[in-house]
Amino acid sequence: MRILVTGHKGYIGTVMTPILLDAGHEVIGLDSGLFQGCAFAPGFRDVPELALDLRDVQRRHLEGFDAVIHLAALSNDSLSNLNPEVTYDINHAASVRLAQIAKDAGVRRFLFSSSCSLYGTANGERVKESAGLDPVLPYSITKFLVEQDVAKLADETFSPTFLRNATAYGVSPRFNVELVLNNLVAWACTKGSLYIKSDGSGWRPTVHVEDISRGWLAALEAPREVVHNQAFNVGLTEENYSIRMLAEIVQEVVPGARFEYAKDPAPTTRSYRVDFGKIQSLLPAFKPRWNVRKGAEQLYAAYRDAGFVFEDCEGPRFNRVVWLKQLLAAGRLNPALRWIA
Ligand SMILES: NC(=O)c1ccc[n+]([C@@H]2O[C@H](COP(=O)([O-])OP(=O)(O)OC[C@H]3O[C@@H](n4cnc5c(N)ncnc54)[C@H](O)[C@@H]3O)[C@@H](O)[C@H]2O)c1
Repeated sequence: MRILVTGHKGYIGTVMTPILLDAGHEVIGLDSGLFQGCAFAPGFRDVPELALDLRDVQRRHLEGFDAVIHLAALSNDSLSNLNPEVTYDINHAASVRLAQIAKDAGVRRFLFSSSCSLYGTANGERVKESAGLDPVLPYSITKFLVEQDVAKLADETFSPTFLRNATAYGVSPRFNVELVLNNLVAWACTKGSLYIKSDGSGWRPTVHVEDISRGWLAALEAPREVVHNQAFNVGLTEENYSIRMLAEIVQEVVPGARFEYAKDPAPTTRSYRVDFGKIQSLLPAFKPRWNVRKGAEQLYAAYRDAGFVFEDCEGPRFNRVVWLKQLLAAGRLNPALRWIA
């Protein structure tokens, strides 16, 4: 297939692009390059690209594609809280517009990067895709709104699929250290502490960034009727952990790391246990290869290879919101997060 991948230069996009290429697909990227300076591990594969803001996409950009994989977004709570109005513009309005233009241009498949954060707080039974949604903050509210609005575009010519990723971890060429496992291992191997920013009780399903990409590939290649206007949780049912449990696994991997709790713990706004049975049964080509322990080992080795230092744990290079604040303060981005020429 000929695929347009938006956000191909991000944490997930730089891992997914080689996996799509290796599966024989043709990939064209679309990205405004917000995190150009955040390179980490090797593995980046250059593809032809539209260096474009999502808000400026025109029909001519979408012509000739079989599928759109839509990853570009302000990709977490802290980034989305920076300026909620801009978040709604990019994550909601521009995403729905992209889907409409794709449909008008004759693109038949549209895979949207949704999130398990839609489930808000669901601490009881593991939640399935059919569960009631409880998006709490602007980030997850925009994911909810896109699912609602793009579902209305589905017809015999246009098949949207909503892939609700668990929280990612693992090495990527365009790294993000805010993600919970990445952060725990980073603190453990640079400071010797398992630093818990909340009370540690919140539940979080986790999945390796490569396995997310494999899940998406399976959805892309599945028969249309299996994925048409469907939501899928992307992850593994056995990989639901509380933050404290994640830290205990990291403790087994990083020798000598000790628990340390934030003095002013962040409130637990997200906590959910998720059932991933649907993707396992309907998309049998999805064969995850990772678990948290292997992921922690991979991260530990990569941090040592890269000479990762404590300042990198919370500094700008691998923290999306700190990085953008720096670009804003330097006058390189305007408040709408557009580049200033
Ligand atoms: N990483 C996770 O744990 C996770 C979990 C669930 C869902 N998701 C979703 O997956 C997608 C990708 O996440 P990620 O972790 O790779 O994020 P990321 O922040 O690393 O990458 C996002 C990419 O989108 C680009 N982008 C942002 N705004 C843009 C705009 N207006 N125009 C063009 N490009 C723009 C950025 O330059 C960046 O390269 C996002 O939609 C995110 O919400 C991520």
